[in-house]
This record gives sequence, C-alpha cells and structure tokens, in this order.
Amino acid sequence: MSQFLIVYGTEYGQTEKIAMFMAEKIRARGHDVDIVYSRQAVRSPESLQKYDGILVGAPVYMRKYPSSLRKWVRFHARQLSNKPTAFFSVCLGVLQNDDSVQKELRGIAENFFTWSGWRPGRWVVFAGALRYSKYNWILKRIMRGIAKKAGSDTDISYDYEYTKWDQVLQFTLDFLSSVERPNEVRTSEYSNRTQTSPGHQ
Ligand SMILES: Cc1cc2nc3c(=O)[nH]c(=O)nc-3n(C[C@H](O)[C@H](O)[C@H](O)COP(=O)(O)O)c2cc1C
Repeated sequence: MSQFLIVYGTEYGQTEKIAMFMAEKIRARGHDVDIVYSRQAVRSPESLQKYDGILVGAPVYMRKYPSSLRKWVRFHARQLSNKPTAFFSVCLGVLQNDDSVQKELRGIAENFFTWSGWRPGRWVVFAGALRYSKYNWILKRIMRGIAKKAGSDTDISYDYEYTKWDQVLQFTLDFLSSVERPNEVRTSEYSNRTQTSPGHQ
C-alpha cells in the first residue's frame, strides 16, 4: 500500500470534484490518500516525506492559477521535486479548437512551473465546468459572453460540466502505475505521451 497526497485549488468546485474522483480511484486500488485544499493550508503538511506520489490540481482564472495553490507549490517545490508528481490544470479554453488558445494554456502551465521551481513528472489539461448558477449577476453575463465567443453553452439557467471522466481516470491510473511500478514505466513509451497538453492526448 502506498500513501498519496492530492492538493488542489478551486473557486467553483470542479477541480475539487476531479480531485475527489481521483482519490476515490486511488483508494479503490488499496492506497491511502490525503486531500488538501490549498486555501486552507499553504504550509501544510510541512513535510511531504511520507508520500509516495503527489497530485496537484489547479483551475485557470484570468490566465492564472489561484494564488494559494501557487504559493503551496512554491513553498514545497524542493520536496515535490524529489517525488513522483503529476499536475492537472482545469479550464474551459481547452474546449476551443484554436491553436493559439492551446498554446496559451501550455504557456500558463509552463510559466507556473518556472515560477514555482517545480516541474511535475507529467501534466495534463482537463476541461472544467460552467457553473452559471454559482456566478453573480455580472459574472453570469461575462461568462455567457466568453462562452458565446467560444461557441459554448450560453443558456444561463443551466450549469454545464465538460470534464471527460474517462480521461481523468486514465491519467490517474497511469500515474498510479508509475508509482506502483516505477521501473516498468520508466522504460515504457509512456513518458513521451504523459507530458500531455491540450489536443495531444
Ligand atoms: C472569472 C472566471 C475566469 C476564468 N478564466 C479562465 C481563463 O483565463 N482561461 C480558461 O481557459 N478558463 C477560464 N475560466 C474557466 C474556469 O477555469 C473553469 O470554469 C473551471 O472549471 C473552474 O474550476 P473550479 O470550479 O475548480 O474553480 C474562468 C472562469 C471564471 C468564472
């Protein structure tokens, strides 16, 4: 049995939902998982020593990740760099079939890795959700405008979830395998495929 840690940032709950889904799948394989919401614990847990694998998840807001999550990673960067780690970015831009948007999303992640001093072993971008019911009046209109431009859903009387759960499951299982059987994974083709970026899955 191994010990995993999942740290996530979230504003409207989709990244948390993905983190919980991952935790459930990891537990189903007989491992232990601790889950930390970045806003509650920038310095906690102080030591990552006991963890065999660490997943970090962050939603994109105005082309950035939440500051509590960024600070958590920067504070733990050195320890993270000595562990098997994976990162998942959650956003809506990934739904757009536009190379410049996909490039921008990769840039957001790459800038974060450079700034924080931590480069995950693998990373991916997942589609998130449009939660009109949770946005205030102004944000509802702003998000509808953005959705319209992107050809996405504009009826603000509904919420929309775009996360592909089979993709989340695959990413989780692949990371689990790399922790359970590190030598096998290191020699496989997989490592070329896992530094996933939008449209390259
Ligand atoms: C105010 C606001 C700003 C956003 N900015 C971006 C952005 O710059 N790029 C993007 O791809 N998605 C953007 N999104 C979409 C979110 O990343 C998406 O809704 C995600 O699922 C949010 O995750 P959360 O529910 O865990 O907070 C934005 C959403 C909101 C409400």
